[in-house]
Amino acid sequence: MSKKAARAGQSKTAGRTSTKKRPATRRAAKTPKQQSLAAKATAPELVTIFDYVRFGAARLKRARVAFAHGTTDPVAEAAFLVGEAMHLHPDEVEPKAARRVPKAAGQRILRWIEQRIETRKPAAYLVNRMYMRGLPFYVDERVIVPRSFIGEILESHFGGDDILRLRDPATVTRVLDLCTGSGCLAILAARAFPNATVDAADLSADALDVAARNVREHGLTDRIALAQGDLFGAVEGKRYDLIISNPPYVDAHGMASLPRECLAEPRMAFDGGADGIDLVRQIIDGAKTHLAPGGGLLCEVGRCKPALEKAYPRASFLWLETEESEGEVFWIEPDAL
Ligand SMILES: C[S@@+](CC[C@H](N)C(=O)[O-])C[C@H]1O[C@@H](n2cnc3c(N)ncnc32)[C@H](O)[C@@H]1O
Repeated sequence: MSKKAARAGQSKTAGRTSTKKRPATRRAAKTPKQQSLAAKATAPELVTIFDYVRFGAARLKRARVAFAHGTTDPVAEAAFLVGEAMHLHPDEVEPKAARRVPKAAGQRILRWIEQRIETRKPAAYLVNRMYMRGLPFYVDERVIVPRSFIGEILESHFGGDDILRLRDPATVTRVLDLCTGSGCLAILAARAFPNATVDAADLSADALDVAARNVREHGLTDRIALAQGDLFGAVEGKRYDLIISNPPYVDAHGMASLPRECLAEPRMAFDGGADGIDLVRQIIDGAKTHLAPGGGLLCEVGRCKPALEKAYPRASFLWLETEESEGEVFWIEPDAL
């Protein structure tokens, strides 16, 4: 639901404010619990999806929660929670904004909004779901919430009429997703490369449990194999047409200033060492012996481009753009390493 739409449809019953003057005394700041009770006590009459999105967005905005997990503003975050409570795909929320919200779903939405504010946990953990490229993935605190730019690149940069054709999808038969977490990128890769089998590797057994669930739910157990190990240690001796990886790449400074929301996620999903590229270095070095001739490595590095170019002055990285990123994902082929 767009912010404009949210403003345009304000109902008469929602969000009334008192015009009475208040005494100019100083009040002690409210605790989150008090704020939550106050919010419930003053909740306007909420009837439609639209009402709940608008109310939820206002609460989230006032509480100054951080948006770093798939949504970028309070309206989108509230719409996501309302959609989940109503069993609607995120794309269906806006077209169905006038639909009435049943009582039980309404109570669920209010509970989630207050939990989101009180715990600061990402919304995806409250509802155990996140969407990537329109596909749903099960998530819980054992995995980072999916939000990699590689998902978009798998759709936009391979095959088709794109000027930049990294590989013809039909010719890709062996894919490795290193640091697979929830398995989201392995699953998107299996869909993008219909003739490929995909190895999905991670050091965390907990993450692989979540990935196994997602692979099963997407009906891909015959094409995606999960492997546990330290980076390429999980797939020794194997070669691939394509290696994709969204590894931990947050540097020491970033680790010290993660928003509260990210503290609910596994630390090992972020920590990239002092300059952020401890694991990226190992991935680049290992790719030389794990890429088949004509293959390539697609890797996300966040803000580590300068550190990487300093560490590999002779490598020809091709930096790719996505809708919301520039210079955060590179493509490289073995002879350019
Ligand atoms: C940024 S998350 C990416 C997860 C998933 N690919 C995604 O995009 O949502 C990084 C993942 O790397 C895993 N990891 C951390 N250190 C690792 C290592 N040494 N070997 C393999 N996986 C590792 C973490 O468990 C985590 O699941």
